[in-house]
Amino acid sequence: MAAEKWVYMVTAQTPTNIAVIKYWGKRDEVRILPVNDSISVTLDPDHLCTVTTVAVSPAFDRDRMWLNGKEISLSGSRYQNCLREIRSRGGDVEDREKGVKIEKKDWERLNLHIASHNNFPTAAGLASSAAGFACLVFSLAKLMNVEEDPSQLSAIARQGSGSACRSLFGGFVKWKMGSKDDGSDSVAVQLADEKHWDDLVIIIAVVSSRQKETSSTSGMRESVETSLLLQHRAKEVVPKRIVQMEEAIKNRDFASFTQLSCTDSNQFHAVCLDTSPPIFYMNDTSHRIISLVEKWNRSEGTPQVAYTFDAGPNAVLIARNRKVAVQLLQGLLYYFPPKSDTDMKSYVVGDNSILKEAGLDGENSVENLQPPPEIKDNIGTQDQKGEVSYFICTRPGRGPVVLPDQTQALLDPETGLPK
Ligand code: DP6
Repeated sequence: MAAEKWVYMVTAQTPTNIAVIKYWGKRDEVRILPVNDSISVTLDPDHLCTVTTVAVSPAFDRDRMWLNGKEISLSGSRYQNCLREIRSRGGDVEDREKGVKIEKKDWERLNLHIASHNNFPTAAGLASSAAGFACLVFSLAKLMNVEEDPSQLSAIARQGSGSACRSLFGGFVKWKMGSKDDGSDSVAVQLADEKHWDDLVIIIAVVSSRQKETSSTSGMRESVETSLLLQHRAKEVVPKRIVQMEEAIKNRDFASFTQLSCTDSNQFHAVCLDTSPPIFYMNDTSHRIISLVEKWNRSEGTPQVAYTFDAGPNAVLIARNRKVAVQLLQGLLYYFPPKSDTDMKSYVVGDNSILKEAGLDGENSVENLQPPPEIKDNIGTQDQKGEVSYFICTRPGRGPVVLPDQTQALLDPETGLPK
């Protein structure tokens, strides 16, 4: 390897994902091996994603990382495990133009700079670690010319955060729990790509929360230690649901998809209640959203909207098509209006072209909304403004990609430091 002071870098974008059959509980805390399979939908990275630039240079004196502009420590075992695993798989890299020549063996001693940015607020409580670790592993694999396929890479991302392994693919993804002690068969596989079921529209209600939630990591550890329901769920319930959910996705069977997603989310939260001491992730607003959707689905006769909640109060609502999504948004805005001084374009973000279709792009449009006619009983008062911080409108999306445009890089190509 030449001693020149070149900087060689790669930038990639990786989506986040939402589980419709949940991962909750580990059988191995270090390797991050789950007690059951899980299935997720990848969300469109145009609306929710992580962008990461990774750089290598003989001039770097240590591994460093910046997250959303702030330097963070890489000393934690999850980062260390991912870096070690990916380095050991690095290949030869040559870029004649830049005078870069790296051999396989060099990756052990060359230092890395990593800059990562989420295109959504971290404080929103949306799974940023899933997209983050997936993007770290994917971008390093590209930088280091690693030959492993996305499933093999998912086994590395899994060691950063379990749910991250599902972000290596677009569309619909299954994380197979595997049975080997070394975790080599605990990998993600794609069930169908994002085009397979592109009628679906996803609306996320970012629910305001006053309390600091228990992290997924410690919450699931406590559930494994104390909840009998978790044992029953992992052994008896999830294996059957996984088969049914795969079938529902394959056949684009929205009724089964909804029934399975909603009951699985509710059982996950029941496991949290069955944990000692109990963990409460949903709040009154979450419960009101569930009532709204349940009543609407019942009044229609066939399910129109699925809901699922992770380790927090935010609702992820999956509408069967655009027309339903428009009605859903109108209903949501009727019950959860913005605070008086809020601009609609900042209250509904992501694909907010839906606002126009919903007739919600004009002055006083929210005040003029009528209660959803399908819902006979009220789900609560309409006057609690500010319960929902904002809505994100999105859809199933693609997997990780390299961003070839250098202007999107987060590190300076000369210094390898954040721009
Ligand atoms: C409720 O993947 O964040 O979102 O593996 O400890 O990093 P660690 O946990 P994490 O847990 C996600 C839990 C969940 C359900 C899911 O995504 O399947």
